Amino acid sequence: MASIDISAIRKSYGHFPVLHGIDLTIRDGEFIVLVGPSGCGKSTLLRMIAGLEEVTSGEISIEGRRVNDLAPKDRDIAMVFQSYALYPHMTVADNMSYSLRLRKTKKERIAEIVASASSKLGLDALLQRRPKALSGGQRQRVAMGRAIVRQPKAFLFDEPLSNLDARLREQMRAEIKKLHKELGATSIYVTHDQIEAMTLADRIVAMHGGVVQQVGAPLDLYDRPANLFVAGFIGSPGMNFLNGHYVVEKGAAAVRFANGTQIAVEPRARLGHESIVTLGIRPEHVVISPTGAIEAGVDLVEPTGFGIIMHLSLHGLPFKIFTLDRSAMNTTGAVKVDFPMNRLHLFDAEGQRIN
Ligand SMILES: Nc1ncnc2c1ncn2[C@@H]1O[C@H](COP(=O)(O)OP(=O)(O)OP(=O)(O)O)[C@@H](O)[C@H]1O
Ligand SMILES: [Mg+2]
Repeated sequence: MASIDISAIRKSYGHFPVLHGIDLTIRDGEFIVLVGPSGCGKSTLLRMIAGLEEVTSGEISIEGRRVNDLAPKDRDIAMVFQSYALYPHMTVADNMSYSLRLRKTKKERIAEIVASASSKLGLDALLQRRPKALSGGQRQRVAMGRAIVRQPKAFLFDEPLSNLDARLREQMRAEIKKLHKELGATSIYVTHDQIEAMTLADRIVAMHGGVVQQVGAPLDLYDRPANLFVAGFIGSPGMNFLNGHYVVEKGAAAVRFANGTQIAVEPRARLGHESIVTLGIRPEHVVISPTGAIEAGVDLVEPTGFGIIMHLSLHGLPFKIFTLDRSAMNTTGAVKVDFPMNRLHLFDAEGQRIN
């Protein structure tokens, strides 16, 4: 196990910059999830940590030792890919023990280590099969087994579950979490699935356009997103954004929209009267109430089984709400809602959070 330090890391392919200076310290035993949209540089960063990609500038250290010029095999890190990358001609047992045989580990010791990993991963009955005779989930398990037997300083995962169907993903996600609890190994996990990020991470690193947007515990990012990107990326259905102006009248603050309606907010010292702002509220935080201060038109009602998503409009401003209350199914015409002040997020014209 090891800590990993990433300092001022930049990467360009030719003249095309991909990562714009990443700083990140990963603690020993921590489970870090890199999350962000396609092309934001997650895999590139992971591959640089593994040594599969050259660093343009900056420094990567593992356990305090600079590894920029160290070959992948000397970094003592195991990587699990989306594509599994198993050897097709080898049995499951041979795939798992391959790295130990390369290291000339004793036969009896190999058998012990493989047996222990295989029982952890539920592979005991499959050890003599070849990869083509396995399901996707089983192959992914073998890929993890192969990583575990090496007892590396850290595990790197690049979208390991994205080839699996939804149910299997959910199951494997829980297993990865259990495995991490058991092994306590430093792990960096790349995904663009925000549910995976929320459920697995000790800390999430949200990336966009080759820049880290926010680092924090999952609920920190959920409750106090640093900017519009993080606010919109984390959570489903996503946060509602309503553009307007911050106004203060007789000491009371509100956001006023182009259509003339306004929503009361807590005063923000940093904002002047008439500043351009975006008001954010999560769909599950809008409250339907017969005494609601805001009357909104009902455009569409979508039952998800678990709850109901309602598409509403506030004099032409569209927003969504999510409720567990099934009686909302029968709503037509208009509905009264409240936007509780303590659930509102404000972002300035640059998209940065204002507390
Ligand atoms: N070998 C390469 N040569 C040139 N450009 C590359 C190369 N590898 C990646 N890129 C570019 O770098 C950017 C980041 O790619 P990267 O694979 O790190 O994204 P990602 O966040 O992992 O995306 P995804 O979620 O789709 O896997 C992309 O714009 C990609 O086109
Ligand atoms: Mg990728």
